[in-house]
Amino acid sequence: MRVIIEPDYEKLSQWAADYVVSRINAAKPTAEKPFVLGLPTGSSPIGMYKGLIKAYRDGRVSFKHVLTFNMDEYVGLPEEHPESYHSFMRQNLFDHIDCPQENIHILNGNAPDLEAECLRYEQMITEAGGIDLFIGGIGPDGHIAFNEPGSSLSSRTRVKTLTTDTRVANSRFFGGNPDNVPRTALTVGVGTVMSAREVIILCNGHNKSRALHAAVEGPITQMWTISALQLHPHGIIVCDEAACEEITHGTYRFFKDVEKENLI
Ligand code: GLP
Repeated sequence: MRVIIEPDYEKLSQWAADYVVSRINAAKPTAEKPFVLGLPTGSSPIGMYKGLIKAYRDGRVSFKHVLTFNMDEYVGLPEEHPESYHSFMRQNLFDHIDCPQENIHILNGNAPDLEAECLRYEQMITEAGGIDLFIGGIGPDGHIAFNEPGSSLSSRTRVKTLTTDTRVANSRFFGGNPDNVPRTALTVGVGTVMSAREVIILCNGHNKSRALHAAVEGPITQMWTISALQLHPHGIIVCDEAACEEITHGTYRFFKDVEKENLI
């Protein structure tokens, strides 16, 4: 695992955007061989999305031959609801880049048969040749996508019940009332994320410091689903200084030292 420690959120976001651009360009994607990107929602990736939009506007990257698969979506929230992940993605990324509509995949939380929808999603990922680069955020309790504590580390896309912790954390987007947050969501599994050829996790702010400690220094456990990243051959966490409060000084120094020579 690589841990990239950037001074602040702005630099972390720029690092992540530059990395994604470099990966897409290195793959030289075509219609026959597109680049397959897994994408998150939440506040953490917003700065990275701004960086990607700027890179597109500056002519440094095109998303014409990029296929995207989003991590998750609430169940029962209309797509046009301002807090649906469909709306979030349009607003923060897709309305501003050249990714064709037919290349964009987001789980349908209003599908009549939710189980079938999850199976269909996994099949589409397989048909796309698997995910080249999955980008994720991290919940304060260490969840990735909506894989709450106790989720199987080999799980695939499915319906999940959200914990009270997550509904309280996400209530800031729903008028501050956890009761307004949907109780269930569709989410890719830990196994789905770990099957990607490369995974980047964005982790910023003091309230993520326990999760960062669990991810990097803790044991692999279903109680901190992010810890599964320790088994991934190409896992990267990009974090800011504020998130480093709970990792030991030695671990901090180690990653600072080894990453000094790695420009990207
Ligand atoms: C939600 C999302 C996760 C995200 C987490 C953290 O639970 N399903 O994918 O990582 O929130 O969000 P934020 O980046 O706003 O802290």
